[in-house]
Amino acid sequence: MIKLGVLGVGDLTEKMIRGLHRSGSDATFLLSPRSRARAESLANDIGCTLMRDNQQVADAADVVLIGVRPGQLGELAQEISLKPGIPLISVVSGVPVGDLQRMFGARECTRAMLSLAAEINRSTVAVYPADSAMAPLLTALGNPVLLATEREFELATVGACMNGWFYFLLHDLQQWFVQKGFAPDDARQLVLSGVEDCVAYSRYKASSGIGEIGSSIATPGTYTAQGLDVLERLGGNAAWKAACEHVFEQLTAKEHDHSDSNSKSRRE
Ligand SMILES: NC(=O)c1ccc[n+]([C@@H]2O[C@H](COP(=O)([O-])OP(=O)(O)OC[C@H]3O[C@@H](n4cnc5c(N)ncnc54)[C@H](OP(=O)(O)O)[C@@H]3O)[C@@H](O)[C@H]2O)c1
Repeated sequence: MIKLGVLGVGDLTEKMIRGLHRSGSDATFLLSPRSRARAESLANDIGCTLMRDNQQVADAADVVLIGVRPGQLGELAQEISLKPGIPLISVVSGVPVGDLQRMFGARECTRAMLSLAAEINRSTVAVYPADSAMAPLLTALGNPVLLATEREFELATVGACMNGWFYFLLHDLQQWFVQKGFAPDDARQLVLSGVEDCVAYSRYKASSGIGEIGSSIATPGTYTAQGLDVLERLGGNAAWKAACEHVFEQLTAKEHDHSDSNSKSRRE
C-alpha cells in the first residue's frame, strides 16, 4: 500500500486523488493542510489524512506528488526537505526533471500531465520517463501515453492545453444552437454527442486516417464541404495550429531557461 503525500492540493491533484480512490487503488493519501477546505472535503469524502504541515507530509509519505503552480514551486522547495530516495511525481507544467532534481535533491522524478477527467479515470495520462516506476499508479487515471523524451512530454503538454481549448470550442458551438432557439440541454447533447460520435468512429476505423474519414464526409458540394471552406477561409484550423506553436515555444523556451540557470528557475 503506497502512502501518497500530496503537496499542493489543488484543482488537478484533487481530481487525481478522487480518480485513484475510484479506481480501487490501495494508495492512501496524506494531504498538505494549505488548501484546507479542499483537503478537508477530500478527508471527509474518501478518508484522506490531513497532515499538520508540508514537512510532515514529506516525512510520512512513500511517494510525493507535487501539484503547485509553476510560480509556487521555488517556495515549496525551500520549505521542505525530502527523505533520501523518496520518488517524486510532478504535474507542474513546464518544469523539467533536471530542475526538479536540483530543487528537491537528486532522486527519481516523474513528470505527469493529466486533465480534470482524471476524476473519472478518463484523462490522457502523459508520463515521462516512459519507464517510470510510477507509471502503473498514474495510468489508473486514464489512457496512458508513456514518453521517452522530455521534448515529447512538452508536446503532450500542448495536448493538455488543447483539452482545455476544446471546452471553449464546445461551449461556443453549444451557444450558437442556444441563440438559434435550442434548449441549453438539447444543445449540449447535440454538441457532445457529435464529438463522442466522431471519436468513437475514429477509434473504430483505426486503420483510416482521421482526415481521410473527414474527407469521405466533406465530399464536393455537400453542406459539410461548404462549411469547411468557410472555416478554412477564416483561418479556423490555422488558428488552432498557431495556438499550439505558441504554447510549445513557451514551454521549450522555459526548458532552455531552466537548463541554463537554476536561479532563474527558482524565480518562476
Ligand atoms: N488544472 C488543470 O487542468 C491542469 C492540467 C495540467 C497541468 N496542471 C498543472 O498542475 C498544477 C496545479 O494546477 P491547478 O490548476 O491544480 O492549480 P491550483 O488549483 O491553484 O492548485 C495549486 C495548489 O497548490 C497550493 N500550494 C501552493 N503553494 C503551496 C505550498 N508551498 N505548499 C502546499 N500547497 C501549496 C495552492 O494553494 P493556494 O491556493 O493557497 O496558493 C493550491 O491549492 C500546475 O502546475 C499546472 O501547471 C493543471
